[in-house]
Parts: sequence; structure tokens; C-alpha cells
Amino acid sequence: MMIRVLGSAAGGGFPQWNCNCRNCADVRAGKPGFKARTQSSLAVSADGTNWVLLNASPDLRQQINETPQLGSAASGALRNSPIKAAVVTNGDVDHVTGLINLREAQPFSVYGSKRVMDTLAANSIFNVLAGGVVARHDLPMNQPIAIEGPDGPTGITIEAFDVPGKVALYLEDASKGGNFGSKSGDTIGLKVSAPATGKAFFYVPGCAELDPPLRQRLQGAPLVFFDGTLYTDDEMLQQGLMPKTGARMGHISISGPEGSIAAFKDLDVAKKIYVHINNSNPVLNDNSPERKATEQAGWDVGYDGMEVRL
Ligand code: MLT
Ligand code: MN
Ligand code: ZN
Repeated sequence: MMIRVLGSAAGGGFPQWNCNCRNCADVRAGKPGFKARTQSSLAVSADGTNWVLLNASPDLRQQINETPQLGSAASGALRNSPIKAAVVTNGDVDHVTGLINLREAQPFSVYGSKRVMDTLAANSIFNVLAGGVVARHDLPMNQPIAIEGPDGPTGITIEAFDVPGKVALYLEDASKGGNFGSKSGDTIGLKVSAPATGKAFFYVPGCAELDPPLRQRLQGAPLVFFDGTLYTDDEMLQQGLMPKTGARMGHISISGPEGSIAAFKDLDVAKKIYVHINNSNPVLNDNSPERKATEQAGWDVGYDGMEVRL
């Protein structure tokens, strides 16, 4: 199985268009130790020919153009694409708006939880992915599903499962109390496997907490891509960027006794990679003490173009 990180940043990307925070200013200035990053997405393939997108970010056009395997094949038909399906893990802007880049009457399939697929159905702009051309499928929870493209199976199987998290920002309902009306299917993780080889990995780009069912699921996994949004729960407040903690946004932090480094410590996961990294996060500076601590704890900090083979 081939896995490529198309975008390793959280919503807004790095640098974010309107942000003059330390990290954004430094990456914009080309300071050594800083790499620009596009928004959150992976691509995966069992055979190197048929690809499945895991989330579709607003930067998808750029990501496709920077990834030769994802462009139209010179030997193919006048209109052709190796992208056979897209699977989304929540309804966040950074994970679904890239679907609109895939208009132009090209057949492919979209998969997401019923909650998220209902959100797409309720937003008429997604009708540019015309019925009869683009197939839409609800992903059941806790059940492996063979992902189908327009011309048959992709060779990728996905099992979706609920993880602790929150409904998309634009759907928050303050009248529903502390969880803003969040329900099953609002934030999911994916177990992605290639039955031909028996290899599998986990993709969990948004997660508020490693609760016991999630811990049990990830235990002993060969590879996990995980939510690296913030290093410290209050870093956006501390930097004066936004009055929201990670907990309020549905994201566990990397550091601290409640953080993901600590939570993964006894899980025996062979390879751990942070993705969905917010521009405020000090691990985006290759030379920061936070980056060093993260790597010393056995984690990789994902970057655009990173490839992993399983
Ligand atoms: C998030 O991951 O918290 C969201 O992408 C935030 C947003 O929609 O801007
Ligand atoms: Mn996000
Ligand atoms: Zn910034």
C-alpha cells in the first residue's frame, strides 16, 4: 500500500492567508526550518494506479498538480483521473470543500458517515458533483467496506469508527449545550487496509481524546496518522490568535499529561505521524524544543509529499 500525505496542515494551512503569527511570518519570509503546508488530506493506493483520497481539502487542485501519480495519465483517455474515490472524516471546511475541485463530470465515488453525507446533500453547491456521475455512499460504522470506484473495486477497504470529537464549526448549535449537538458520525477515524497484502493503518486527523475503545483499536497498530492540531491546549489564546482552546475545538493536544504523546505511550504503535497541524503549533519549526521533544517521544511530524509504504 502506498500512502502519500497531500496536506499536513490543519484548517487555514501554513501560512494561513490572514495570519501574521510567529510561525506564519517565519514561513512566509522563507526562514530556515519552516516548510509551507497545505490543508489536511492523504492519498492511498493498493496498486499505484487507482487512488483513494482521504479527505478533500480546499488545496486539492495544488496537491494534485504537485503529485504526478494523481494527474491524468498521458496514455489514457481524453478525460481520465486516477482518483477513484474520496472518503471524508468529518464535515469541516478543510476536509470537504476540495470535493468541489473534482467537478467536470468525472466519475468517482464519495464516502462519509451518514451525518456528513446528509450535510453535503443539504448544501446545494455540492450538486456540481452530479448524481449519475459521482456516486455517494454512506459509510456504516464498525464495518469494513470495499471502496468502489467508477470501474470497480479500488483494492482499498475502509472501516469507519466514531472517535471523540465535535460537529463541524458551521453546524455548532450552542442551545444543545457543551457538545454543540454533536452526534455519532460527526468525527470518525478510518482503518484503511489493502486486503491483497493484509496491510492496514489508521487515519485519525481529528480527535478530542483517546477513550478506551479507541485505545483498544489502535493498540499494536503498525502505523497511525493522528491529530497534531495543537502542541498545547491554550496556545492560540497565549499567542493572542483566537479565544478558543483545543478542547473547545474538539482537538487533543500533543503535549501534557492529557496529551497524545502521553496517551500513546503504552499503545505499542510502530509508526506514529502527526497530521492536521495548526499554524500556531511550535512543532512546525524544525529547530524548536517542542519539535525535538515530539521526535524524541517517537513521533514524526508529517509534511506535504511525505510517503509511507506498507
Ligand atoms: C477544525 O479542525 O477544528 C476545523 O477544521 C476548524 C475549522 O473549520 O476552521
Ligand atoms: Mn480541521
Ligand atoms: Zn499563523
